Amino acid sequence: MNLFLAVNYYIPLVIIGILLVITLLLIGANFILGGSKMKTVTINKDTVIPVKDTDTLLNILSNNKIFIPSACGGKATCGFCKVKVISGGGDVKPMEEPFLSDQEKLDNVRLSCQVKVQDNIEIEIPVSMLDAQEYTCEVINIKDLTYDIKLVQFQFINPKTMSFKPGQYAQLRVPGIEIIRAYSIASNPKVTDKIELIIRMVPKGKATTFVHKALELGDKVIVTGPYGNFYLQEDSDKDIVCIAGGSGKAPIRSILHYLKDQGMPRNVKYFFGARSKKDLYYTEEFVELAKEYPNFEYIPALSDPLPEDNWDGAIGLITDVLDQNSGDLSDSEAYLCGSPGMINACIEVLNKHDIKSENVFYDKFS
Ligand SMILES: Cc1cc2nc3c(=O)[nH]c(=O)nc-3n(C[C@H](O)[C@H](O)[C@H](O)COP(=O)(O)OP(=O)(O)OC[C@H]3O[C@@H](n4cnc5c(N)ncnc54)[C@H](O)[C@@H]3O)c2cc1C
Ligand code: FES
Repeated sequence: MNLFLAVNYYIPLVIIGILLVITLLLIGANFILGGSKMKTVTINKDTVIPVKDTDTLLNILSNNKIFIPSACGGKATCGFCKVKVISGGGDVKPMEEPFLSDQEKLDNVRLSCQVKVQDNIEIEIPVSMLDAQEYTCEVINIKDLTYDIKLVQFQFINPKTMSFKPGQYAQLRVPGIEIIRAYSIASNPKVTDKIELIIRMVPKGKATTFVHKALELGDKVIVTGPYGNFYLQEDSDKDIVCIAGGSGKAPIRSILHYLKDQGMPRNVKYFFGARSKKDLYYTEEFVELAKEYPNFEYIPALSDPLPEDNWDGAIGLITDVLDQNSGDLSDSEAYLCGSPGMINACIEVLNKHDIKSENVFYDKFS
């Protein structure tokens, strides 16, 4: 073998040898530093999950079929993924600070998407959260409700049914980009093999652009749920005020379906705020409901009606219309859904009418 051939033959072998040694050293260092040491996540003192790789608590729980609400998909912008960490979570990170009250910090509440599991960790989760499951669904109906709002109906394939409370929400995983977004369930809780979501297009929004421009009948998507503490208080007989704007109609529709099935046992006033007539939808459904049940009143209000709307209903901001039509609310419950700004402004009006804070329930679509 001449010198040229020997060099060509041995150099690749030497390089492979060096790479092999480096890899073994890295694996050894990782092992010594604890990167792949076995750890455990103990949930509510009784469920123990063994964990090999370091990952966020949210991901570890989700990989083990425990679906914590996580509307922002782990970016620390929704603050929904709170769990109580009894031991082993490390220090609160700056990203968590805005979402944790002083009391929550004292109670060791953490954002599970920001907790890295590097050691054994013990956590507490409300039992209701363990009800959420992952569902493979098929899109069986897509319908335009307005120029920027679509109704999408999903058939559950596996598992086949979801039980939810009227007002709760589900999370949709957008295929391809794998982002997660929360959508209130708009359908009747009595129907458990399908759900309807009402999705308003947000300009340049990732999930809503997918739903409005790419989603098709027959597509399979992943939905998790049910989630949320916003739901009808079924054991109460108080009068109800519902307030919604835009796609905030979704959970209120589910609540009203439920109440209708019970024969509308409570007095309900439903305020819906929109700009002009083109933003109204399901008007006929609620007008019919009001005809059927005199103790249900539907008050759609337009803030900027167009001349061609020929609108003879309430005109003005939803806060003003609410103020004028509410009366004493000291023994009423309120259910609000829509943008954070609208909800905050309406709560001020409700307070003016003496509502008790423990009787105000809302989901901010942020
Ligand atoms: C509990 C809960 C229930 C919800 N239920 C519904 C529902 O029933 N129907 C529904 O349509 N939405 C609902 N939302 C809002 C929904 O989860 C998404 O935030 C929304 O669809 C936008 O997602 P995106 O990926 O298209 O926008 P992103 O890509 O997340 O956002 C794009 C840009 O738009 C801004 N933006 C985000 N959301 C809005 C908004 N609503 N209005 C104006 N600007 C916005 C963002 O700040 C960002 O700058 C709910 C949210 C929560 C937390
Ligand atoms: S998932 Fe949104 S803050 Fe953690």
